Amino acid sequence: MAGKRMKDWIDFGLVRDFANEKTEACRLCTKAEGWVERYGADVLVSYKTEIARDDILRELAQWALLANVRFERVFGRFLPKQNAERLPPQLISGDPAASLRSTVLERQVCYAIDFGAGYSSGLFIDQRENRQFVRRSAPRRLLNCFAYTCSFSVVAGLTGAETLSIDFSKKSLHRGRDNFMLNRLATDRHRFLVDDVLAVLPRLARKGERFDMIILDPPTFSRSRTGRAWQVERDFEKLLLTALEVAQREAKILLSTNCTRLDERALEVMGRFCLKATRRAAQFIRGVPLPDFPPGAGARSVWMLLR
Ligand SMILES: C[S@@+](CC[C@H](N)C(=O)[O-])C[C@H]1O[C@@H](n2cnc3c(N)ncnc32)[C@H](O)[C@@H]1O
Repeated sequence: MAGKRMKDWIDFGLVRDFANEKTEACRLCTKAEGWVERYGADVLVSYKTEIARDDILRELAQWALLANVRFERVFGRFLPKQNAERLPPQLISGDPAASLRSTVLERQVCYAIDFGAGYSSGLFIDQRENRQFVRRSAPRRLLNCFAYTCSFSVVAGLTGAETLSIDFSKKSLHRGRDNFMLNRLATDRHRFLVDDVLAVLPRLARKGERFDMIILDPPTFSRSRTGRAWQVERDFEKLLLTALEVAQREAKILLSTNCTRLDERALEVMGRFCLKATRRAAQFIRGVPLPDFPPGAGARSVWMLLR
């Protein structure tokens, strides 16, 4: 069994490493036409075509046998070309009466998963090493923009930080509060703001709020309630310029994106442009590669360490 390895699937030693560090959420397989993620006892298969889905399901059964892992449920999620066509995952196998909600650990931190909440189930696995960077840095004041379910705020909160999480989805921030509770963190030192990041940042700057860590992990495309369109390639620099106004001296800023047209180099070029415009200086460090993601798969990230 040991020695054997299936193409495109993670090897069994890595499965053991994740278990040893109490991580239950990981990428199991990455192919051009889809991928597989594990969330504890459940699996989510994301696919571009039904043929790809069926091939992946066949391989999943084989992999689980070789890895000696039993999954309770398998969900499937079609990957549409347009965001507007995104649908929640569908149950492929397992008990249809079981709750769609569960929890998973990542390095002993607990996160809620909900396969019924929408297209995304609650935890972006490819931000694992960035969450670890936050944890190791132990910031004092973290600004989490586009916070979704607040995973970055939770890890910062666990090391004693005050946090401000902003997202225009009330439902996502509600799930974020649940993540604080799951980790027995009182929310009195943590703020949750349902609003447009692009409108809030200038307000924070005017009020003189400053942060020593800022998370910028915006969507590729979105539209605010006022109808304003956001497009990451066009608007990231403007976002960063505004974020720099609330960045303390020596703040650490995460620049991260899922947009396949932007790589780490492009993020760094944008960062350098903004530094020049604001007469600030920084060192850039690239995100740590994830052992369960092939190069180029998953979010691209750069940390800007202001000097
Ligand atoms: C890519 S997810 C962020 C994931 C998050 N960083 C994490 O690792 O869990 C994007 C989030 O941005 C939010 N969003 C998109 N545009 C926004 C805007 N203009 N202002 C506030 N939130 C926004 C969405 O509701 C969504 O939750």
